[in-house]
Amino acid sequence: MIPLDLPAFSAEQKEFSDQFVERLRAEVLAHGPIPFSEYMQRSLYDTEFGYYVNGFSKLGADGDFVTAPEISNHFAACLAAQCCQVFSALSAQGLSSSVLEFGAGSGKLAADLLLALEKADALPERYFILDVSSDLQQLQAQSLKDALSADIFERIHWLSSLPENYNGVVIANEVLDAFAVERFKIANGVAERAMVAAGPEGFVWQFESHQATAKSVGSIASDLDADFSEGYQSEYCPMLAPWWQALSEMINHGAVIVCDYGAERRRYYSPKASDGTLRCFYRHTVHGDPFARPAVQDITADVDFTAVAIAATEAGLELQGFTPMSQFMLSLGVLERHENTIQSLEERDQIVATSDLKRVILPQEMGDRFMVIGFSKGLEVALDGFSKADWSRLL
Ligand SMILES: C[S@@+](CC[C@H](N)C(=O)[O-])C[C@H]1O[C@@H](n2cnc3c(N)ncnc32)[C@H](O)[C@@H]1O
Repeated sequence: MIPLDLPAFSAEQKEFSDQFVERLRAEVLAHGPIPFSEYMQRSLYDTEFGYYVNGFSKLGADGDFVTAPEISNHFAACLAAQCCQVFSALSAQGLSSSVLEFGAGSGKLAADLLLALEKADALPERYFILDVSSDLQQLQAQSLKDALSADIFERIHWLSSLPENYNGVVIANEVLDAFAVERFKIANGVAERAMVAAGPEGFVWQFESHQATAKSVGSIASDLDADFSEGYQSEYCPMLAPWWQALSEMINHGAVIVCDYGAERRRYYSPKASDGTLRCFYRHTVHGDPFARPAVQDITADVDFTAVAIAATEAGLELQGFTPMSQFMLSLGVLERHENTIQSLEERDQIVATSDLKRVILPQEMGDRFMVIGFSKGLEVALDGFSKADWSRLL
């Protein structure tokens, strides 16, 4: 894919990105091309330069992208309703509940969720945040301190590894699409692995035969009962199985809600999607060149929710449902809450609130491109979020 005209590169960001490229390029020149998964891992998580580790703005107007919780608090209110149902089921089993949020971004979802749970008189015992970014952890701590009372703030704990014997709800919103993926291309009927080599300046693609890649892509094709066409390119995520295994081992009783851009396998690997789902975000411009602004642009790949369902259920979790975010929110009463809220607003604020709602639930906005999948373990209820529409049969 040819990169679009990208917004201006600040001198500071250019120098930072150039330093990262220089260092990684020297390694590649010395030791040979690296798999794309390693390139993505280094670009996002390198301990010195990685996108999620460095201090440049990521979320919001002066960052690179906007997420659902940043647009409005509808999403948090729906998640709060879902948490209430799980908390009360666990309480009936004599258990108290916590929330564990992966990748909390600016802390906006945590703040809105905790405020909604306070209003429902259903605060969790503890609210854990596990985020790879120490820079974002600081931002979260500040914004949560400003938004919450001291009593609620004290319930929040930042973790660097998973807790044990966990009861409650686990949330990951727009986190799995940042997991490093392998990229492949079909050549002579076989999937070759995408490698990153040093070009005259930055990096260039190279493809090589690789047994494990051919095997993984072969198993996706046989699952779909279809062959990929010559030249077809896409991605798969090898990190899913260990992540779900660790999560399942952690949970005694509770639910996991994962929300992200993606699709079930048949849609994800449709013949039309022959260039894959890799996307980069720089100052709200979306493009397809992961070598354009290394370490200062976000790199994401959509989530294959069938792969998620396989990894999670093989790890011992029970699939509860799979649905577009719009349906998840409708099942959890977003319209009823909106009606109640706007009654007390001035007309101008009503218009703003309605337009924010449309951005998160209308299909052409993020509503039907953004999916929610839910799992449970040791929980005796069916999650409300999947009560109006469950597309699990497509997985
Ligand atoms: C796209 S942002 C989403 C932020 C937030 N969930 C929201 O919806 O606004 C991704 C977040 O996940 C964190 N993150 C990225 N990879 C992660 C990983 N492997 N484990 C935990 N957090 C991660 C990032 O630091 C960032 O806070």
